Amino acid sequence: ARKFFVGGNWKCNGTVEEVKKIVTTLSEAEVPSEDVVEVVISPPFVFLPLVKTLLRPDFSVAAQNCWVRKGGAFTGEVSAEMLVNLGIPWVILGHSERRLLLNESNDFVGDKVAYALSQGLKVIACVGETLEQRESGATMAVVAAQTKAIAERIPHWPNIVLAYEPVWAIGTGKVATPTQAQEVHTEIRKWLHVNVSAEVAASTRIIYGGSVNGANCKELAAQPDVDGFLVGGASLKPEFIDIIKSAT
Ligand code: 13P
Repeated sequence: ARKFFVGGNWKCNGTVEEVKKIVTTLSEAEVPSEDVVEVVISPPFVFLPLVKTLLRPDFSVAAQNCWVRKGGAFTGEVSAEMLVNLGIPWVILGHSERRLLLNESNDFVGDKVAYALSQGLKVIACVGETLEQRESGATMAVVAAQTKAIAERIPHWPNIVLAYEPVWAIGTGKVATPTQAQEVHTEIRKWLHVNVSAEVAASTRIIYGGSVNGANCKELAAQPDVDGFLVGGASLKPEFIDIIKSAT
């Protein structure tokens, strides 16, 4: 019942020429219908209007961040209201690159998620442990604390997708094994069952991110609690289409 979800996080990459090329490649691709897979592309802010204009109508777009509250005197920030005004339906929040490089805390990410939802945005909320945390056995404690900071601030879950992205797997070529991914996704679902509700646990999509590519996606997608992917590097390449196709 959980529709497969494939997000393409372009991070801080691209030129106008490259953007046009990627979007054209995606537009020409034959992929499963939107009843089967939800595809969301996330370019940098400056390219959002262009991508939204050129993108095939069965795909959607996401911003990679937004400001934590209503806009105003916050130089360099982009508000949730602006995204709504531009017709951008999705936003990625709490990506590990922002948590770690820009010091976004669990509480700050939780506040962002709550505010974005309150403005009508749909949110891809990212969680995940570092290598050090995994090796010290803290994976689930870390992921639970990140999830809790979101859960305690939001009134409803239909507009949330949770992305489990172990930091050690991001951009490293070191993908989590299907067993490792399934294990954490099950734990997150159990956490939702106990701390939110059985309904939210059963219906919330939990997607995996970290070195997903055209070759490893099929086996990961076969795991019962892996409901899709958040793809970085490979989302800039034609193999992103193979990842979309792993929905079936
Ligand atoms: P890579 O697919 O490049 O490892 O990045 C994953 C990611 O961070 C997606 O948000």
